[in-house]
Amino acid sequence: MEFAPARDPRLEECYFYHRMDLPGHGTVGSEWDLRDQVDEYLGHVDFSGKTAVDVGTASGFLCFEMEKRGAQVIGYDLSDAFDWDVVPYDGKPQREVIERTRTHLKFINNAWWFAHKALGSRARAVYGPVYEIDRRIEPVDIAVCGSILLHLRDPVLALERIAAVCRETLIIAERDVDRPIFIPEPERRPMDTWWLYPAGYYEAILKIFGFRQFNVIQHRQQHAESGQQLDLYTLTARR
Ligand SMILES: C[S@@+](CC[C@H](N)C(=O)[O-])C[C@H]1O[C@@H](n2cnc3c(N)ncnc32)[C@H](O)[C@@H]1O
Repeated sequence: MEFAPARDPRLEECYFYHRMDLPGHGTVGSEWDLRDQVDEYLGHVDFSGKTAVDVGTASGFLCFEMEKRGAQVIGYDLSDAFDWDVVPYDGKPQREVIERTRTHLKFINNAWWFAHKALGSRARAVYGPVYEIDRRIEPVDIAVCGSILLHLRDPVLALERIAAVCRETLIIAERDVDRPIFIPEPERRPMDTWWLYPAGYYEAILKIFGFRQFNVIQHRQQHAESGQQLDLYTLTARR
């Protein structure tokens, strides 16, 4: 397992996707505020004494919260060495969009390391595409997929690979929809988002990969950037 070397970025080199309270720095971040409903987001799963991976960790709020609850955690994400699943309008992804996402990833990875230092975390980071997670980390007890599957061109392949490194419990948090929605369309050209699936779809997919017990909870989370409360679900799947 190749852990990413530690970074020590300055605050202005960071982008905090999550609103987080960092000792010595106050509250940072403006996009999503999961602080009030984090136990719902994580499906009320018991993390004590477990190993876990936070798949698509971004600025790491969930990773550090799992650690607070007693888990030994790996934060897994893309870095600026890898490409986002950009929607290939007109047959190929636009070069400038890929470059923009790489710059964004550098800032978001930096934020993880900034928070890691401020919180005195012992979590480790591994970088790579989700489709290669089974080649890049050793199996863990719990895998958390928070708001990542909507950004993937092939969520079934991703779940196959994540399931291969998940011994017990796989947690999916996604936007709550009552029917599947395919996001790309050539008029508005959203670039970084593909699918919204109801919890039942992911349940059906995870049955293929050996999961047998399922629980779904609904919760509302604060999209701090727009000031809206949005409906999400958390599906907890156990073998
Ligand atoms: C919307 S953020 C979710 C952050 C956090 N998991 C949460 O639930 O608050 C999506 C995360 O997935 C990561 N991601 C997107 N596509 C990925 C891919 N193909 N492989 C690995 N990570 C990916 C992004 O870099 C980002 O950190």
